[in-house]
Amino acid sequence: MITSQTGGLGLLGHPAGHSKSPEMMNAALQMMDAPYVYLAFDVTPAVLKQAVEGLKALKFKGWNVTIPHKTSIMEYLDGVAESAREIGAVNTVVYQDGKWTGHNTDGTGYLRSLKEETSLDLSKQRVVILGAGGAARAVGYALATAGVPKVTIANRTLDKADRLAEHLSRWTSTEAIAISDCQDEVREADLVVNTTSVGMFPRINETPIPADWLHHGQIVSDLVYNPRETALLQAAKLKGAQIHCGLGMLVYQAATALELWLDKPVPIQLMKQVLEASLSGNKK
Ligand code: ATR
Repeated sequence: MITSQTGGLGLLGHPAGHSKSPEMMNAALQMMDAPYVYLAFDVTPAVLKQAVEGLKALKFKGWNVTIPHKTSIMEYLDGVAESAREIGAVNTVVYQDGKWTGHNTDGTGYLRSLKEETSLDLSKQRVVILGAGGAARAVGYALATAGVPKVTIANRTLDKADRLAEHLSRWTSTEAIAISDCQDEVREADLVVNTTSVGMFPRINETPIPADWLHHGQIVSDLVYNPRETALLQAAKLKGAQIHCGLGMLVYQAATALELWLDKPVPIQLMKQVLEASLSGNKK
């Protein structure tokens, strides 16, 4: 029940109307008996500063940040956690000890979901990341700092792959390659992660690499969650590879944000069920 004691949590983005976070977060808050409500706010870049001042004045406990504010939000905060600084993006703002701090839960969320759903031994993984955008940066940082021995960045634009590989080389051995030329690297990889938007609804028959590059014994992971099982994952499954779909990252990045705000155990299974129901409702 919402009372005069109910506190605020939320999301700043533009657009924000498609977000599934309010359903997932409010279901979790209710289950946790936490006196907060989570709202999505569509905020254009022109009014980001006023929106942040408003949330601070209204004593929000924190909020999530999505496109296009993940970098520009930093100038309105008192500090940025190391992982968010290295990833170059903030997706969660937390009020603690009188300070507003930016965090990034995308990378840790991805890793938690991967560990939960696959038989992963990070110390032995040769990883190929397809893509070199914001999502690749978060996933790459999480894997590189978690002890993965080698990360290959395969991207359509080689220059961007080079830059990300160079950045990640502070933590692990890296290389950059054009996505069209990464056949050998994919064949040798233990884990292949698609961070590009290829395969996303409505172009659901497309794959970022030819499916016959994949094989049994690999883990193939796709950040695309609509459809739940992309053409890449379907092909990987047919080859006998283990698959990991993007829904888990979405749930765990949200769960990690809730943990940062409330410092309490979070009902992750419930969040997953709510998200699955909401996404399948979309298609009706
Ligand atoms: P995000 O924050 O989701 O990672 P992004 O920063 O725009 O989004 O990055 C999108 C990634 O998908 C990029 O690596 C992009 O490749 P380019 O750097 O060459 O643009 C990749 N991508 C998008 N469409 C693609 C396509 N049709 N084929 C291959 N890669 C594609």
